[in-house]
Amino acid sequence: MSQKKLEWDAKYSVGVEEIDNQHKVMFATINELVDAISEAPTREKISRIVEELVAYKKFHFATEEKYFKQFNYAGAEEHIQRHREFSAKLDDLSKQFADDPIQLAFNLVDFLEDWLIYHLMNADQKYKECFHEHGLK
Ligand SMILES: [Fe+2]
Ligand SMILES: [Fe+2]
Repeated sequence: MSQKKLEWDAKYSVGVEEIDNQHKVMFATINELVDAISEAPTREKISRIVEELVAYKKFHFATEEKYFKQFNYAGAEEHIQRHREFSAKLDDLSKQFADDPIQLAFNLVDFLEDWLIYHLMNADQKYKECFHEHGLK
């Protein structure tokens, strides 16, 4: 069984190099998880990748939210809410880890890919104009 890898595309860009690069790191980490599943997934490997992802999304959300504050972004509250929901769901899924790490990895890849692409194409695209107006590129 194998799941599809994420591929970066220009349409995902928010036109800010720092943020695009962070999104690319998230793509790469999710792809690592896809690889881990298709090879011989071990509890240790999956847990390392999941931990990496949890730490990185925290760092990434903090970056976006820092600019929301700095630029007084009108959509901040709604966007921050989306980030919180994601974090809660990720926590939830991570709790299944003890029972069944392999199943968790499968569910996680589906959830992460859907969420990330949707979030990139919707919420993240919305701050593009505001960030650009403030000279962030
Ligand atoms: Fe975001
Ligand atoms: Fe983002």
